[in-house]
Amino acid sequence: MKKLYGVIGDPIKHSMSPEMHNQLFQLYRIDAAYVPLEVKETNLADAIRGFRAIGAAGFNVTIPHKTEIIKFLDRIDPLAEAIGAVNTVVNENGKLAGYNTDGLGFVKGVGTQVSDLKKKRALIIGAGGAARAIYFSMAEAGITQIDICNRTSGRAEILVKECPISVETNIVDFSEAEKELQRYDLVIQTTSIGMSPNIDHKPFSARNVSETAFVSDIIYNPLETSFLREAKEKGASVQNGINMFVCQGALAFEKWTGIFPDTEIMKETVQKRLGGPTC
Ligand code: ATR
Repeated sequence: MKKLYGVIGDPIKHSMSPEMHNQLFQLYRIDAAYVPLEVKETNLADAIRGFRAIGAAGFNVTIPHKTEIIKFLDRIDPLAEAIGAVNTVVNENGKLAGYNTDGLGFVKGVGTQVSDLKKKRALIIGAGGAARAIYFSMAEAGITQIDICNRTSGRAEILVKECPISVETNIVDFSEAEKELQRYDLVIQTTSIGMSPNIDHKPFSARNVSETAFVSDIIYNPLETSFLREAKEKGASVQNGINMFVCQGALAFEKWTGIFPDTEIMKETVQKRLGGPTC
């Protein structure tokens, strides 16, 4: 029987996940379909009950349900529990298990481009949900020096305190991060600053970035943020948010099917949809 997968969120109509996963089901000859499902916050409990009733094989979870969903699941993976957010649910013999592949997707994406990740000195810009998933997953991957800068320093302090794995972290403000940017091998921009339509905005100038650094911006709309462009002009290697998006999807697909899919094909699909080159 055909297996059913989906993504729940609100709004959901612009999600690229259905295209990406349906293409993979076809490629690997798996009899399954993946659908976008708009679920309002007030309907979340009913939606999960519905998934159970119809025996859905799994689903992704996006804004605004990533945290709220936890209380409706039967099992939570320890990393997802620490992050406090779930983006992937697997129906494991009738029990719904929650995972977080966002941060691990980021680490996987960077790992394909940067060698010796564990030895790198990293700076994360931002301390929201995305930064939290990335920081915790980087900690789990064995990266031991990760500084954070956030407009609200208290939020960064909480993030560091709640991480189950101890990491050497300095909390710096935007002006210090800008001044000392050359210290970092890895710079990860996780805020919404620079996202369309505010494409000229950036958290601070990247002019002091080291030319040997790897700079990642998790935004993919636009494909090149103003922060990323400046870092590239200074000689740094850069990566936009497509890799993280694709890798979180690849890890979800692997949880559902046991197959880690071809991420290059996935990137091409996303690139076509966004209308520009991936990096
Ligand atoms: P997400 O889940 O996408 O990370 P979030 O949890 O709302 O979203 O977090 C947004 C992040 O972007 C936060 O780090 C936020 O900084 P604060 O914690 O100080 O709010 C940051 N952010 C968003 N807009 C910003 C702005 N205009 N200037 C500085 N930081 C901003």
